[in-house]
Parts: sequence; C-alpha cells; structure tokens
Amino acid sequence: MKFELIKLKTVATEREGTLSFFESKKDIGFEICRFYYIYGASIGVERGRHAHKNLSQLLICPYGSITIKLDDGNEKKEVILNQPDIALYLSPGIWREMIWNKDNSILCVAASDYYNEEDYIRDYSEFIRYIQNNSKG
Ligand code: TYD
Repeated sequence: MKFELIKLKTVATEREGTLSFFESKKDIGFEICRFYYIYGASIGVERGRHAHKNLSQLLICPYGSITIKLDDGNEKKEVILNQPDIALYLSPGIWREMIWNKDNSILCVAASDYYNEEDYIRDYSEFIRYIQNNSKG
C-alpha cells in the first residue's frame, strides 16, 4: 500500500505561532494542481468512500482529529491525522474513508490534478475489480 506520513518543514516562534509548509517536488513527489479543504463537519461524520485511479494527494488536518481508513484491495490500515505538521501522502489506487473525531476538524488536500469525476471509483466492488485487473500480468 503506497501511503506515507510526512513530517512537514516547520518554523516555530515563541510567541507568534508556528508555520508549516511544503513545496511541490521538493517535499512531495508530485506537482500540486489543486487545493481544497473540508470544514464545518460534525463529530462522527464519514466522508470519502472512494478511490482514485490516477490522482496523488496529500492530506493534512491542521485543526482537530480525523481518522483515515485506507484499503489497497489487499491490506487495510488506519491513520489518525491530528497534528498540523504531519501530512499523509496517498498514491492512486487506495480506497479511503475519513471519519471526523472532533467537531469542525479541518481536512486540507493538495492534489496532483484538476477535479475529474472520471478519476473516481465510488463503488467498493468496482474498486476491488479495478485492483485485480490492474495487478494482472
Ligand atoms: P468528494 O471528493 O466526493 O468529497 P468527500 O470524499 O470528502 O466526500 O467531493 C464531494 C463533492 O464535491 C462531489 O460532488 C464532487 C465535488 N468536488 C468538486 O466539485 N471539486 C473538487 O475539487 C472536489 C474535491 C470535489
């Protein structure tokens, strides 16, 4: 399963807070084409339940706590994002579910391409078939 937790470069000050950042290619293995964020969700909310065929993504929870359930069709893992200086890299071909552990947790996502519904697999059985077909030969 190709996912990775990345410690972001961070500049901390004593009284003025902390700044974390990442740069395309230097810090993450793709060029950022799109950035979006999810906010205003209540505790217990579940989102995601899809995979991407070609999209790479970097997920950050700068505020709150979100559980990310990952599944590559063979193996399942769980990651909790609750630190602003930690990012989760997700390669294509990973089914993900996100569960809000705290009200108003924020999920920021940097993505390698424009929004394209054709790149989504939203049906789990279809995802399993996709993985099986793409691992042959
Ligand atoms: P989706 O990716 O399914 O969000 P989640 O997995 O968090 O539930 O997107 C939700 C809706 O927003 C869906 O109708 C597609 C739309 N959308 C865009 O129009 N542009 C975007 O960049 C994204 C990420 C979603």
